[in-house]
Amino acid sequence: MHSIPVAVIGAGLIGRTHIDRALKQPGLALAGIADPSDEARRLAQSVNVPWFADYAAMMDGVKPQGVVIATPNATHAAIAVQCLQRGAAVLVEKPIADTLDDARHICDAAAKAGLPAMVGHQRRLNPIMQRAKRMVDAGKLGRPVCLTAMSTWLKPQEYFETAWRRQKGGGPILINLIHDIDQLRYLFGDVATVQAISSNAIRGFEVEDTVVILLRFRNGALGTVTVSDTAAAPWNWDLSAGEADRFPRQDVNSHFISGTEGSLTLPRLDYWHYREGRGWQDELTVERTALHFGDPYAEQMRHFRAVIEGKEQPVCSAEDAMRSLDATLAVAEAGRIGKEVVLSEPSKAR
Ligand SMILES: NC(=O)c1ccc[n+]([C@@H]2O[C@H](COP(=O)([O-])OP(=O)(O)OC[C@H]3O[C@@H](n4cnc5c(N)ncnc54)[C@H](O)[C@@H]3O)[C@@H](O)[C@H]2O)c1
Repeated sequence: MHSIPVAVIGAGLIGRTHIDRALKQPGLALAGIADPSDEARRLAQSVNVPWFADYAAMMDGVKPQGVVIATPNATHAAIAVQCLQRGAAVLVEKPIADTLDDARHICDAAAKAGLPAMVGHQRRLNPIMQRAKRMVDAGKLGRPVCLTAMSTWLKPQEYFETAWRRQKGGGPILINLIHDIDQLRYLFGDVATVQAISSNAIRGFEVEDTVVILLRFRNGALGTVTVSDTAAAPWNWDLSAGEADRFPRQDVNSHFISGTEGSLTLPRLDYWHYREGRGWQDELTVERTALHFGDPYAEQMRHFRAVIEGKEQPVCSAEDAMRSLDATLAVAEAGRIGKEVVLSEPSKAR
């Protein structure tokens, strides 16, 4: 099989996962790692891959066909635009950027270069989500009515030793909630309006630690999401879905999705519906599917290869991720102003 050269920029927490998956992905050759840190240099040495402190030097030196960008949020746009201009497809970590203007720059650069830009909303590639999406699209839930998502966990103190995680744009809204928003958009479509209450009362950082959110989807469905990085709780996708080895899997549901014909829990995929009768006095049937296991990061790397080759369309394109960013930034804004925020039509995202 022909090996496609890819490179990784940013070898921190998630960059190391991408490096591992790229090394294991058939048909990909990890051509370089760019990250000025000593840890990154040592890691590159240990896996025998060329290391660069400067990503532009790496682009010129190894000429990758694809680049994974796993650097802090505020750097995504400048790096992604440079990579696209140098002829590489990009897989940008989420959030695509920390402003809509920067997200638009990435979309425009991709269009100008005629290259794919995809975004690391890996939950879409989880087999649990793929099944849920098929069920929703097949009408098994009927008309979407409402949903509740929980995103509550306790991040350890050392997580916040990295300064940007304590500062505006580095908190659970842009780091974590954006995954839930993207996941909910994937199932229910675009968000029309957002209300939110946000607080930094427990950790006292510049950035929020807890937010409660009300969503109205364009299809008319309503949703609530609770996010907190300071709650000792298991109800969140990272722990319940078992996507990453670094989180011990908890046997709980975190997302509850209801329609006129049935309801679905995630990640356990319990499907509740009526077989006979159709009212609260009738018996509900629950169908439980065997627990799905998958490594969406590995699947994302396989998908990236197929996207570079033009064999698959990005499951989360830069344009799509920009709309998830728009809805997520609207949560931050709604929390700040204490009022409902109305999102623009998708074609004219703010
Ligand atoms: N999809 C996921 O599951 C997931 C999980 C965690 C983080 N993320 C996202 O990945 C990104 C990185 O997060 P993290 O937690 O790994 O951060 P991190 O701080 O652990 O790592 C970032 C790395 O980028 C390097 N870096 C910074 N600027 C650079 C530059 N200009 N060129 C090259 N390297 C540079 C730093 O030295 C550091 O090693 C963020 O956008 C975050 O939101 C995604």
